[in-house]
Amino acid sequence: MPTNTESNAGISSVLHEQRVFKPGPEFSEGATIKSMDEYEKQYKIAADDPQKYWANVASQYHWFKKWDTVLEWNEPFSKWFVGGETNLCYNALDVHINTWRKNKAAIIWEGEPGDQRTLTYLQLHREVSKFANVLKRRGIQKGDRVAIYMGMTPELVIAVLACARIGAVHNVIFAGFSAHALTERINDSHAKMIVCADGTIRRGKSLNLKEVVDEALVDTPSIQNVIVYQRTKETIHMQDGRDHWWHDLMGLASEYCPAESLDSEHPLFILYTSGSTGKPKGILHSTGGYMTHVANSFKHVFDVKEQDIYWCTADIGWITGHSYMIYGPLINGSTIVVYEGAPNYPQWDRFWDIIQRHKVTIFYTAPTAIRAFIRAGDEWVTKHDLSSLRLLGTVGEPINPEAWMWYYKNVGKEKCPIVDTWWQTETGGIMISPLPGATPLKPGTATRPLPGILVDVVHKDGTPCQANEGGFLVVKHPWPSMLRTIYGDEERYKTTYWSEVDGMYFTGDGARKDNDGYIWIMGRVDDVVNISGHRLGTSEVESALVSHEAVAEAAVVSRPDEVKGNALVAFVTLKEEFEGNQKLREELRAHVAKEIGPIAKPDDVRWAAALPKTRSGKIMRRLLREMASSKEVKGDVTTLEDFTVLEKLREEEEESK
Ligand code: WTA
Repeated sequence: MPTNTESNAGISSVLHEQRVFKPGPEFSEGATIKSMDEYEKQYKIAADDPQKYWANVASQYHWFKKWDTVLEWNEPFSKWFVGGETNLCYNALDVHINTWRKNKAAIIWEGEPGDQRTLTYLQLHREVSKFANVLKRRGIQKGDRVAIYMGMTPELVIAVLACARIGAVHNVIFAGFSAHALTERINDSHAKMIVCADGTIRRGKSLNLKEVVDEALVDTPSIQNVIVYQRTKETIHMQDGRDHWWHDLMGLASEYCPAESLDSEHPLFILYTSGSTGKPKGILHSTGGYMTHVANSFKHVFDVKEQDIYWCTADIGWITGHSYMIYGPLINGSTIVVYEGAPNYPQWDRFWDIIQRHKVTIFYTAPTAIRAFIRAGDEWVTKHDLSSLRLLGTVGEPINPEAWMWYYKNVGKEKCPIVDTWWQTETGGIMISPLPGATPLKPGTATRPLPGILVDVVHKDGTPCQANEGGFLVVKHPWPSMLRTIYGDEERYKTTYWSEVDGMYFTGDGARKDNDGYIWIMGRVDDVVNISGHRLGTSEVESALVSHEAVAEAAVVSRPDEVKGNALVAFVTLKEEFEGNQKLREELRAHVAKEIGPIAKPDDVRWAAALPKTRSGKIMRRLLREMASSKEVKGDVTTLEDFTVLEKLREEEEESK
């Protein structure tokens, strides 16, 4: 099996992991699912009749009109709760404001400089209703796409929910993306409007977002209006007729805006993510099914209770922020913490300080952050009182057992279960995860699939792998929050997800199942890499590199990195008239940051006379990966990679065929 597993930090220790941590009785007693027996029973009921199971789950939520058919499956296209009508914003806000929860905090927000705001469910409902009216007044109708590009302020949550309220399709673009990336996403989704902030604050500095928007909008004919939320008060340009201040429009807006009754299959959002080839894919999620699985999985995986203070550190620009910062928690009536800023500003204890001050009870973060905290030193954690915590979670990449143990001991004080949740932008919600009151934990595995989620590890021909044998992770039955398509590209949807293994959804991840049926994710098997928990396609970075005038050809691969999980190494062939030196290396890194965003900057740029290729012209990535992992180019060295060795290897390989 072609896998990236060599590039996963800590994989060797994962193969030898034997420790098991059983849930404490005090935790299990109060949990929604209290034992493995109960889990097994539920899993079986759901697997025997998935439609009945999901119909039961869906009936927990508010529907304006009940569905006629649970699932219409026309492989690979699914429709869930067909004929039903609902609204996610209604489920996230309106259902609570007629109860005592109206005065419960929905959002506790903290900005990096220390500014704070709290919005109750009633206040959030009012703001969202007003902004929904603003959208309508500015010509946004049901089905129109609205791009959102702002830092982590409550207004970002408000903008998202306002779209959902009127049936506009939100397309949140991570505020670290460049103007070019913004243009690409706006044009692909034909967004009619962009909602942005003047700036955002990170590591004590203010970043001017409006400038990026202005640059992006030079080439986006579909955008008619820009709404600008004033966060940093920096000097920005406002274009007459096109650009409007958030506060001006909100000042005029009525706070009465009933939630639209939307078809269950009405599109809810597009979120761009990286694939193995070509430009980013616009993953399309729809209404009823997404709501059902996201809200229900939040309830069980995080075992949420009324008094919990829940903090997910992801940015709303990624799927985790959509599903488990906004929709899942708010539909369950939870209080969420939203933080705008860096984890290590002003010091390495910022997260622990926030947990202590706000008495956070559930904390959900990424392994890359945990590894960075380990490096910074235990004293930053131990000096804080973290006794409010009762449950921890991780997401986005495999967690190595060392990082798991550190998190368990130093943050959870050996009393908080850790839910290692495996899922993807495409799956909409968590697919594989411990249930904290039931599942015995083993460091480094996301354990078992949730009830209703039929995943397996299989060979290329779809036959199941033996225990402990590596294979492809697939999903064998449609699930409600699955992506509906890649926006505007059904063919790509079919070939990416439904053509690798016959009749099954192909996740792109390699995995193995152990003797207890626990699933150990081994990393991507395609050309997608996980850098600090952010998903990137190596081909995107390659196209960014070749768009530079000096570059003839580029191949980008990953190598293991202790903190980031993986780091990017670019092998670059220059055009004849250019010479590879440190200055050009920096220029190329800056160029990628400009084309995609700083997260995509290669860690190393290496010069190559030519790239090693197979006879059919395919770049031999496996060899490049090995090369990238074994040698690191440091400082101002201008080496030319000697690919004649690889050439020989290729010849040997081909001769032996
Ligand atoms: C990886 C993030 C191991 C995996 C929610 C997947 C994980 C990709 C885990 C999706 C986990 C996510 N253990 N690997 N718990 N969670 N991944 O779309 O490779 O940004 O395919 O969604 O992240 O990344 P995405």
